[in-house]
Amino acid sequence: MDRKKVTIGELLQKKELGQKISMMTAYDYPTARLVDEAGIDTILVGDSLGMVVLGYDSTVPVTMDDMIHHCKAVCRAVKGSFVIGDMPFMSYQVSLEQAVQNAGRFIKEAGCDSVKLEGGSEVAPTVSAIVKAGIPVCAHIGLTPQTATMLSGFKVQGKDAESARKLVQSAKDLEQAGAFMVVMECIPDLLAARITKELKIPTIGIGGGKDCDGQVLVYHDVVGLFERFTPKFVKQYINLSPMIKEALVQYKNDLETGAFPGPEHTFSMSQEEAEKI
Ligand code: KIV
Repeated sequence: MDRKKVTIGELLQKKELGQKISMMTAYDYPTARLVDEAGIDTILVGDSLGMVVLGYDSTVPVTMDDMIHHCKAVCRAVKGSFVIGDMPFMSYQVSLEQAVQNAGRFIKEAGCDSVKLEGGSEVAPTVSAIVKAGIPVCAHIGLTPQTATMLSGFKVQGKDAESARKLVQSAKDLEQAGAFMVVMECIPDLLAARITKELKIPTIGIGGGKDCDGQVLVYHDVVGLFERFTPKFVKQYINLSPMIKEALVQYKNDLETGAFPGPEHTFSMSQEEAEKI
C-alpha cells in the first residue's frame, strides 16, 4: 500500500474532528516498514532506543550519533507516517545554538519530519528557537525519563493540584512557543483531559488516559520483545519473545539432528562434475 505522507495540518484536523491520532515507536528499517504499512499516523524514533534496543538501564547514555543512525534506518522505510526524532539528553540543554544545530541534524542527515524534546516551561525558549529555524517540535511533559532523577524516579506526575497547575502552564507555554504537538507521560487522566481541552495542538498520551487526542506506546512493549519490566499503561497485543525463542531452539535441534538443511535448502551439481573437482 502506497501512503501519502501525513502532515501536521492533518494531525491538527484529527484533533478538531475528534479522531484519535496513533503513534508508535520504531528504531529500525523492518519495524518501521511494519508500522508504516499498518497505517500508524506518526512514528517516534524515541530515545527509549537506549533501553529496549541498546541494553542501557536508562535513556541517559543515548547519543546524537545513536539517534541519527537509527532515524536514518527508519526514514528509509517510511512512506506515510510522520517521523519524529527524539533529541537525546544533553543535545539541547547547553545552548540554543546547540539545540538548533542538533535538531537540524535530525532533519538534514536523518530525514525526519520533526523532533521531540523533553521538559516544561523551562524549555519553551529552546522550542521557540528550533521552530524559528523551521523545524517542527513535539513537546514532552509529565514524566520526563531523561531527568527522572530530578523527579525522584519513574513516578506519576501532577497528582496534586499545585504540580498539576504547573503542568497545565507548561503545556500552554510550549504551545505558545510553537510546539505542534505534546506528549504527556504518566499523568492522571483528569489532568490529561484538562490539558487536552485547553490546547489547540494535539496531545498524545502514554499513561495519560483515554481523553488525550492520541496515544503512543513503545513497540517492544506492544509486541512482547522487552521483558525487563512492563509499565501499567502498556497493552501487549502479542508476546513474541517466547515464540522467537521456541523457533531458535527448534533451529538448533534441527542442526543437531540433521533435519536442517534439507535438499530444498541445498544447491546441487552432478556427481560427474563433482568427481572432476
Ligand atoms: O523515547 C520514547 O520512546 C518516548 C516515548 C515513551 C514517549 O519518549
